[in-house]
Amino acid sequence: MTLTVRPRRPEDLPGLGADLLEQQPRTRYPFRDPLPIPTEDFLHAEDALGALVVERDGDVVGHVSWVARAHGHPDADLLSRACAEAVGQPADRVAWIGAFFVAERARGSGAGRLLLDAAVSALRREGRVPCLEVLPHHGAARQLYLSTGWRDVTTVRPDWLTSVVGDEGPDVHVMVLPARAEER
Ligand SMILES: CC(C)(COP(=O)(O)OP(=O)(O)OC[C@H]1O[C@@H](n2cnc3c(N)ncnc32)[C@H](O)[C@@H]1OP(=O)(O)O)[C@@H](O)C(=O)NCCC(=O)NCCS
Repeated sequence: MTLTVRPRRPEDLPGLGADLLEQQPRTRYPFRDPLPIPTEDFLHAEDALGALVVERDGDVVGHVSWVARAHGHPDADLLSRACAEAVGQPADRVAWIGAFFVAERARGSGAGRLLLDAAVSALRREGRVPCLEVLPHHGAARQLYLSTGWRDVTTVRPDWLTSVVGDEGPDVHVMVLPARAEER
């Protein structure tokens, strides 16, 4: 089995959309069901600063992208500032990792870790500060972030979460990845 990360291509999007929806009933990711937007919008087909896929023996089995502003917040800039301040960096260098998932047929074989690591490396090369949002419901992802050095900054309630559960249930964790000691 060979895992390879490469930049996303437009022709990857239909298969990724199908894989995303296939795993949703078991992971609740995306949290909104049915998803009120096309899967291509969820994957940031048009507005990603960057996007990567992971292939397993040539089969595209996972995706991650990053954007300039957190989605669904009246004041997304405030959130970027909070993350940037937490690591002593300027807010205009923040980028938000999202649309991160691995197809069910490839789970647990290291594809997610490899993809996240590649995204972080790409952001670092671009001089960006990696940030993300994660719900406690998405335990595997949260576990991966905590085990790779991501830190909690705050919790928030984005519009998309309120639209599903109102004020019920937990908020979203906002996390930032501090620079490694050798990068400071
Ligand atoms: C998060 C996700 C991408 C991980 O992909 P994956 O390829 O299965 O993960 P990997 O095999 O690379 O495992 C990496 C780490 O993830 C965590 N992890 C993976 N599966 C897990 C599980 N079932 N329970 C708890 N932690 C898990 C572990 O920390 C694991 O490290 P370890 O193997 O050293 O214990 C995948 O579970 C997924 O697509 N989840 C649904 C979508 C989602 O929640 N996205 C994130 C929203 S912010």
